[in-house]
Amino acid sequence: MDSNGDGIGDLEGIRAKLSHLAWLGVDAIWLSPIFPSPMADFGYDVADYCDIDPVFGTLAAFDRLLAEAHALGIRVILDWVPNHTSDRHAWFVESRASRTSAKRDWYVWRDPLPDGGPPNGWVAMFGGPAWQLDPRTGQYYLRSFLIEQPDLNWRNPEVVAAMHGVLRFWLDRGVDGFRIDVIHRIAKDPLLRDNPPSERPGPGFGGQLHVHDENHADVHAFLRGIRAVLDEYPERMTVGEIDPRIPDDVAKYYGRGDELHLAFNFNFLRARWDAELFGREIARFDAVVPLEGWPDYVLSNHDVPRHASRYDDPTHGEARARAAALLLLTLRGTPFLYYGEEIGMRNGAIPPERFQDPLARTLHPKLSRDPERTPMHWSAGAGAGFTTGEPWLPIAADAPLRNVDAQRADRASLLWLYKDLLALRRATPALEAGAYRALDAKQGVLAFERHQPASRVLVALNFTGDVCSPGLPSARAQAADHTRAGAPLPANAAELELGPSEAAVLIVDASARAHG
Ligand code: NOJ
Repeated sequence: MDSNGDGIGDLEGIRAKLSHLAWLGVDAIWLSPIFPSPMADFGYDVADYCDIDPVFGTLAAFDRLLAEAHALGIRVILDWVPNHTSDRHAWFVESRASRTSAKRDWYVWRDPLPDGGPPNGWVAMFGGPAWQLDPRTGQYYLRSFLIEQPDLNWRNPEVVAAMHGVLRFWLDRGVDGFRIDVIHRIAKDPLLRDNPPSERPGPGFGGQLHVHDENHADVHAFLRGIRAVLDEYPERMTVGEIDPRIPDDVAKYYGRGDELHLAFNFNFLRARWDAELFGREIARFDAVVPLEGWPDYVLSNHDVPRHASRYDDPTHGEARARAAALLLLTLRGTPFLYYGEEIGMRNGAIPPERFQDPLARTLHPKLSRDPERTPMHWSAGAGAGFTTGEPWLPIAADAPLRNVDAQRADRASLLWLYKDLLALRRATPALEAGAYRALDAKQGVLAFERHQPASRVLVALNFTGDVCSPGLPSARAQAADHTRAGAPLPANAAELELGPSEAAVLIVDASARAHG
């Protein structure tokens, strides 16, 4: 929400919508980076970790937002970007000034090879070699993403101390935790060995097997240091973004309860709409997270196409988006919602001349992340109630019909389904914290149980386009949420019927819990 008409969402705008978020029932909000930045990568190029970019507001506005959020019982999570800064950060400006600068070693500088080429063959995720020659001092600096995003050197203890200082700056102000950007990349092979080729060798990022430039074993010591800072404060959390080479390795980032509180689980982002596939991904993540850890689930975020578009089903409208919501909010693990998914927002169509995301330029227009970043639809009016000015990205065409005002007024809307499910989750111990157990189900159906000693829940999702009886175990149903608004509650869970792409969660008699 943009409060000052410049077309860009800001802190005052978010503050104005806190009461809506409290109505919806979210526990916390995560803000993507709000720090001073030239916005080469929309805030993921930080020029000062301890201030607010004027486009979003001021430190005073942030303090107001934090205080009001806390008064409503909403926690605030900031986005901490430890792998790289902006090339305009004062640290990098000083580092690049001369080979003898006091901050030279805060970044990763190396001489060219005898032929003048980069120190090794690593490639940047956002295109091109991972090394950028700086003609002033004749050395290359490492940049895992854009040229404007030089990598910090976490092997220098001064960098570690400075970055811990950043965490304390915000923790002292009262923030509740951090989403940590690409944490698996902060440690790299100190010998800078080349990566071997992947199964599909080529010049791009996918052409290499990333064994030396990410997920290096030393990242865990750095994470323990970060966790120790968080543990100086009560009730704070971290969620880390990780791209493990082997999916199950994500679990390593929990350490023994002394690293991340949550490691982002992106398995759904890659899964087709398929019951068996989803079942496999859930079982896998649930099994690998260590006892000291806690799972989490994500359907959409700012880097991938929105799931309402990914699972688009012209025949059954938004049924899949509703079933996906029911799944996300009944699983064992913290659910992350991406703004707008609760009203079923889809990818917007962005004309090439309005592209903002640098990836459209450095990789391919098709890889632009702009379509999933279009402004939130608050109302049907001009600017979708997001802005009174020209929005920074075009507003998606369906905003006049698909918006918060319209859905708050419609008890059968997707927004109400999210609200109801969030409330059910909070009120039901088995949903909040119960164990997960897959149930046998017909092909095309995903069914599971969540249970605690005194609370038991059954969930079934029909991934097919046909009506089906999922065949849940027999148990007295006491309450339910169904993706078809107003669907009757069966007396016995075994009698549940689901239409195409429908799903239901049934609270059942806990005493009848099946073992096995
Ligand atoms: C991951 C973030 O989610 C993405 O938006 C960003 O471009 C890269 N990290 C680089 O910071």
